[in-house]
Amino acid sequence: MTALKNDRFLRALLKQPVDVTPVWMMRQAGRYLPEYRASRAKAGDFMSLCMNPEFACEVTMQPLDRYPQLDAAILFSDILTIPDAMGQGLYFETGEGPRFKKVVSTLADIEALPIPDPHKDLGYVMDAVSTIRRELNGRVPLIGFSGSPWTLATYMVEGGSSKDFRKIKAMLYDNPQAMHLLLDKLAQSVTSYLNGQIMAGAQAVQIFDTWGGNLSAAAYQEFSLAYMRKIVSGLIREHEGRKVPVILFTKNGGLWLESIADAGADALGLDWTCDIGNARSRVGDKVSLQGNMDPTVLYAKPEAIRAEVGRILASYGKGSGHVFNLGHGITPEVDPEHAGAFLRAVHELSAQYHE
Ligand code: CP3
Repeated sequence: MTALKNDRFLRALLKQPVDVTPVWMMRQAGRYLPEYRASRAKAGDFMSLCMNPEFACEVTMQPLDRYPQLDAAILFSDILTIPDAMGQGLYFETGEGPRFKKVVSTLADIEALPIPDPHKDLGYVMDAVSTIRRELNGRVPLIGFSGSPWTLATYMVEGGSSKDFRKIKAMLYDNPQAMHLLLDKLAQSVTSYLNGQIMAGAQAVQIFDTWGGNLSAAAYQEFSLAYMRKIVSGLIREHEGRKVPVILFTKNGGLWLESIADAGADALGLDWTCDIGNARSRVGDKVSLQGNMDPTVLYAKPEAIRAEVGRILASYGKGSGHVFNLGHGITPEVDPEHAGAFLRAVHELSAQYHE
C-alpha cells in the first residue's frame, strides 16, 4: 500500500500534532454538487451509484477534485445497506427518502432476520472500499461508516423516516426483550460490516447515531450507547501498521458527552447545539472532537462563514484533537462556492492554534 501523503485527519483523531486543523464535510459527495447530479443521472438512481463500485468511487472523488483542502474521503454508500442485506428491500421514492418493502413489527419478524455476511451479502460495499483506496493512491485517508443499531432499527421498524418514532418507541416500552434482540443482531451485523470495510482499506470508521438523541437519557444508555460500546469493543483497531480511529456521532447527544466519551471510541462527533470549547473541557483527554458548524451557516455569505469558522476554532483553542466538520450533512441547496470558502477558512484560520 502507498504511504499516506496527507495524514493530518488521522493524526488529529489521535491527538498527535498537526500543522492546521483537518477538515471534511458529512455528505460531501452529494446533491449540492452538479457533477454528483450528473453521475446520478448517468447511473439512473441513488442505489445504483452505491451498488456499482466504479460509480461509488467516481462520486467519492468528486469533492476531493473540486476542493484540494479536504483532508479525508468518505466511502460513498448509505447506512441502510445493512437492513437491505437483511432482506427488507430498500428503495428510495424521489423526494420522499428511504422506504422498505418489508417492515419489522413482531418478535417473529426479528427472530427471522439473518445476520449479513459482509463479503457475500455486502460485497459491493467491500469492492467500493478497495476501488476507492486504489484510486486515492495515498492522497488522503478513507473513512468507512455504518449506522448505529438504534438508528438502523428506527428505519427498519418505522419502514422509513419518521417524525415521532411511534412504532419503535411503543416496541421499546412494550417489548424491551424484542427490542434488545433486534439491537443485538444489528450490533453483530455492524461489527462484521465495519471490520470488513477496515480489512478492505477503510482507515478510520464513523458510527452515525442520527436518532439516538431522540431517546430519554435512560433509554439512550440502554438502547443506543450500550450497543455502540459493544461494537467498538469488537472492531479491528490497527491495520496496515496504523491505528484505525473510531468516531461516534450521536446527533443531539450533547447532554451525554461524558458517558459517550467512555464508550471506548477515539473521537466524538458533535452537532452544532453544543459549544465545542465546553465539550472539550467535559471530555478531557479521553477523546478527540469532530464538528461542529451548523450546516445552514453555508447559506450565508463567505465572510459570515469565515467568521463562524473563526469562532469555533477559537472556542476549541490551541492544540490537536479537533477535526473540523459540519454538525450534520451538507444540504442540497448549498452553493458549492460557499463550501469552498468554508474549507479554505478552516485551514487559513487554524494555523495559529498549532505550533
Ligand atoms: O457523507 C458522505 O458523503 C457519504 C455518503 C453518505 C450518504 N448517506 C449518502 C446519501 C452517508 C455517510 C450517509 C449516511 C446516512 N444515510 C445517514 C446518517 C447520517 C445522517 O445524515 O444523519 C442516514 C440517516 C441515512 C439514510 C438516508 N439516506 C436518508 C434519510 C436519505 C434521504 C434524505 C436525503 O438527504 O434526501 C438518504 C439518501 C442519501 N444518502 C443521499 C446521499 C448522497 C441522497 C440521495 C440522492 O442522491 O437522491
